[in-house]
Amino acid sequence: MKITIVGTGYVGLVTGACFSEVGIDVTCVDIDVNKIENLKKGIIPIYEPGLDEVVHRNVKKGRLHFSTNLSESLDDVEVVFGAVGTPPDEDGSADLKYVLEVAREVGRHMKDYLLIVTKSTVPVGTAEKVREALKGELVKRGVDLPFDVASNPEFLKEGAAVQDFLKPDRIVVGCDTDRAKKTMERLYKPFTMNGHPVIFMDITSSEMTKYAANSMLATKISFMNDMANLCEIVGADVNMVRKGIGSDSRIGTKFIYPGTGYGGSCFPKDVQALIKTADSYSYSLKVLKAVEEVNNAQKSVLVNKLMKHFNYDLKGKTIALWGLAFKPQTDDMREAPSLVIIRKLLEAGAHVKTYDPVAMKEAERILGNKVEYGQDQYDVLIDADALLIATEWPEFKFPNFNIMKKLLKNPLILDGRNIYDLNELKDRGITYYCIGIDTTK
Ligand SMILES: NC(=O)c1ccc[n+]([C@@H]2O[C@H](COP(=O)([O-])OP(=O)(O)OC[C@H]3O[C@@H](n4cnc5c(N)ncnc54)[C@H](O)[C@@H]3O)[C@@H](O)[C@H]2O)c1
Repeated sequence: MKITIVGTGYVGLVTGACFSEVGIDVTCVDIDVNKIENLKKGIIPIYEPGLDEVVHRNVKKGRLHFSTNLSESLDDVEVVFGAVGTPPDEDGSADLKYVLEVAREVGRHMKDYLLIVTKSTVPVGTAEKVREALKGELVKRGVDLPFDVASNPEFLKEGAAVQDFLKPDRIVVGCDTDRAKKTMERLYKPFTMNGHPVIFMDITSSEMTKYAANSMLATKISFMNDMANLCEIVGADVNMVRKGIGSDSRIGTKFIYPGTGYGGSCFPKDVQALIKTADSYSYSLKVLKAVEEVNNAQKSVLVNKLMKHFNYDLKGKTIALWGLAFKPQTDDMREAPSLVIIRKLLEAGAHVKTYDPVAMKEAERILGNKVEYGQDQYDVLIDADALLIATEWPEFKFPNFNIMKKLLKNPLILDGRNIYDLNELKDRGITYYCIGIDTTK
């Protein structure tokens, strides 16, 4: 079977590599010439555990190809996946210009039956727009070629994307013809043999499922952050409350960790886009609006604590920041809480020194010379007035506190991920703030 993936970003590259891993002939197409040239040389554009091995192995086997030319990549292809970006429009709704451009490009060049599958996260009604865009090009060409559209939202997590794709909890497919259903069944068979289900449904429900899933996860995070803030006020320990509620199987232990708010390329934009979809049908998603409000405020919580500690004067202070990526095991900094923290520190007149195990290159691309970049996690502590932690990378969890105390000007840590034990740090003479516990008492 031969397929083409359009858009070779986090989703497209992982999807293409993993399909080729099970023997499918895959071409990954992108308009970013530099990205494709690098991939042809074996240079992987993103940090994603295990991805480089899968890519290199399948390129070597001749099953995974890269191209900037979509028209040439449609020969003998049965399925085209669209995995291009759907960034927020000015008003927060999903911008479909890349998705529809792919549909038009396919319509301009397809020669035979094709199934065009949207893997990008897109609002309800997009499949119909894809169908119309593609059909419009066929009409312009004066040809009447058969095609189907399908929705196949992606649920992989950055940082565990390869494993998530190879061993998915579930695969959701929305389609409206038997032919499309059979093709998708065949394509995903290697991933479902161990019992991972493909859930077939109508296209509208499939498009809705992706937004509902991300919104539910974002809701859990904002709910817990709201609880954390109240815990501080009433004198409760959110870490204990989390354990107490998480042991209830109806609630579960995942996604109830308080922190500095959710970020990344998906939750913020998808929550906003779903709110906009509902608004456009004159329905107000009150819960999600609150989720977003809580999240925006949460990104400032750590800096607010720091400001209070220094009597609202950070001018001339040097602040070290560990963790730039929006979560561990990725170099993705899109909508990362660290960016809000850095902006607020700079606005308050502080000097910022940063370190992240893999996101330093990405940080330099985004932040340029606004901040200083450390060689390692200890380097940034030299003469710093405080350390802030924004991402819970494993290597930050058991640091050498003796070295840290020696390097820091003040033994002061503000932990946005609750990775340390309050009593241990107190015993070591380190002033410690975290989320959801009033550590000043
Ligand atoms: N990143 C994630 O964790 C994740 C998870 C699930 C779903 N999604 C969704 O998947 C989609 C893609 O996300 P991503 O993070 O992979 O985006 P990305 O920005 O990493 O990659 C998108 C790629 O599409 C390319 N592109 C744009 N227009 C093109 C065109 N006309 N032809 C060919 N290539 C084109 C861009 O150059 C880019 O390389 C989004 O809708 C996103 O919401 C992302």
